[in-house]
Amino acid sequence: SNEELSQRIEKAKAKLGKKLLILGHHYQQDEVIEHADLRGDSYQLSQLAANSDECRAIVFCGVHFMAETADILANRPEKLATRNGERVSVILPDMAAGCSMADMAAIRQVEDAWDQLGEVIDTSRMIPVTYINSAASLKAFCGKHGGIVCTSSNAAAVLKWAYERGDRVFFFPDQHLGRNTALTMGITNAQMPVWDPYAEEFGGNTEQALVDSKVVLWKGHCSVHQMFRPEHVAQFREKYPGIKILVHPECPQEVNDIADVSGSTSKILKTVEEAPPGTKWAIGTELHLVNRVKKEHPEQEIHFLSPVVCMCATMYRIDLAHLAWTLENLLVDEVVNPIHVDPDTAKYSLIALERMLEVR
Ligand code: 13P
Ligand code: SF4
Repeated sequence: SNEELSQRIEKAKAKLGKKLLILGHHYQQDEVIEHADLRGDSYQLSQLAANSDECRAIVFCGVHFMAETADILANRPEKLATRNGERVSVILPDMAAGCSMADMAAIRQVEDAWDQLGEVIDTSRMIPVTYINSAASLKAFCGKHGGIVCTSSNAAAVLKWAYERGDRVFFFPDQHLGRNTALTMGITNAQMPVWDPYAEEFGGNTEQALVDSKVVLWKGHCSVHQMFRPEHVAQFREKYPGIKILVHPECPQEVNDIADVSGSTSKILKTVEEAPPGTKWAIGTELHLVNRVKKEHPEQEIHFLSPVVCMCATMYRIDLAHLAWTLENLLVDEVVNPIHVDPDTAKYSLIALERMLEVR
């Protein structure tokens, strides 16, 4: 039962002590996140992994790209030196916990796009920006080409950083975060062609559209956040006068444009925490987080923005059974499901990740 599993987890945690750090993303289910030592959005979790000094194992309750990022940051040369070369083991309780958005951009496709872009524009003045929701190989690509990683909480500052260094941005894999952020900076849709990696040439664009671009967006999206529609916003506004719409910037432009607040999972939490009792919200992000916010704030009226269930099936793969299994193996010095980014990829990803951590 869940109770038994929870007891096994707490028992293992007590024995492992400070050697173990459990990190949890806000989209994790309640029963799992309760066991996390620290929780956060993608940016905060990266910072926490980068600053973890005492632990020798990080169990990541989140998805694959987050665990890769934690491995790169926790085991960067500077940190390894302080531990006489001893690595922190990073563990993903279920290896099938991926991210469908991250899977929409493969490194070969990005390299091919870059080469094709180079036929029509000066890519030495183009800055590649990858959303943290991407494979480490894409982060390494950005590290090698003067680029950077962004998260949903620092995307605008990252674009500003990019335009201080170049004329144009190549943004992957989430077209919505890229578009919603660029729009706040006065860039127009006409200046944002979308690159379709499955199109025959130039990502399905005319050469002129690429020449005129300020941002080339990748044709990727989050399968969870694309479910929120402008009709849902209209329905809530009609039924509950005065209701505020709070969304994640992975939502499509039509939704993001008409929302009252848009931000990362931490910003969503903070926005509700700071609102007065009686405030009405319809929130457009992953179901488990919305349900938790609802439970934690009975003094406010909180609704889920979509009439259909939008939950992240891969985040949900992390459950108590997998967590208990990884911890009990750690107790006998077995590292199951290790996430270990190869040294060359880690080296170049780190360049782009360190830039991300500096830009806020
Ligand atoms: P943040 O927690 O950084 O807002 O990210 C949301 C998300 O979709 C993670 O996959
Ligand atoms: Fe990926 Fe979307 Fe799930 Fe986040 S919510 S992990 S972007 S599929």
